Amino acid sequence: MSLPSKSGMRSIAAIGLLWVGALIAPAHATSTPPPAPDVDSSALAALADLAGDLNPYRGDLRAIAVGRDAFNQSCARCHGVDADAHASPAPDLRRIGRICARVPEPDLQLRCQTDADAYFRDTVEKGKIKLGIEHMPPWKNVLSTELIWAIRSFVETSQGRAK
Ligand code: HEC
Repeated sequence: MSLPSKSGMRSIAAIGLLWVGALIAPAHATSTPPPAPDVDSSALAALADLAGDLNPYRGDLRAIAVGRDAFNQSCARCHGVDADAHASPAPDLRRIGRICARVPEPDLQLRCQTDADAYFRDTVEKGKIKLGIEHMPPWKNVLSTELIWAIRSFVETSQGRAK
């Protein structure tokens, strides 16, 4: 058997690229951005530092109210109404960072909280796409940073049916 000619090699490479392209493409092609929630964000204090990793609205009652409204419009169908995830297909978001309250040293507690907050924001912005399958859409250009923090503030305070 003779080796494939140069042009033969090229078409084999081209077919290879098409194949890889077909594997990668769906992740981008299928993700139609979800609609933005219809909420009045004017109650949220403007943020001086949009890149900060710590939730700036923690405990702010107005942010919690806006966050609840946004959550129930955008997240509840997968993560449960009012973040009560006991019968929903997606993870219980109230667990993220909950353990930080048990860290006794203030410095370590703050770091724990900051890590949990940053994970929450980054995950929401990027969505969850694994092997080309979209488990959760990216929310980056749909939700403002303020709204993501408001949602986080709500989720943390939601009692739901805490497990
Ligand atoms: C279409 C369903 C769907 C919607 C809508 C959705 N999510 Fe998700 N989300 C998921 C799924 C499924 C996962 C778990 C994916 C995985 O890890 O494979 C997830 C994971 C997450 C995680 C990481 C959870 C963890 O334990 O690590 C966060 C944070 C999150 N979602 C926040 C949100 C927020 C906030 C909203 C609303 C703005 C939202 N999601 C809307 C389906 C959804």
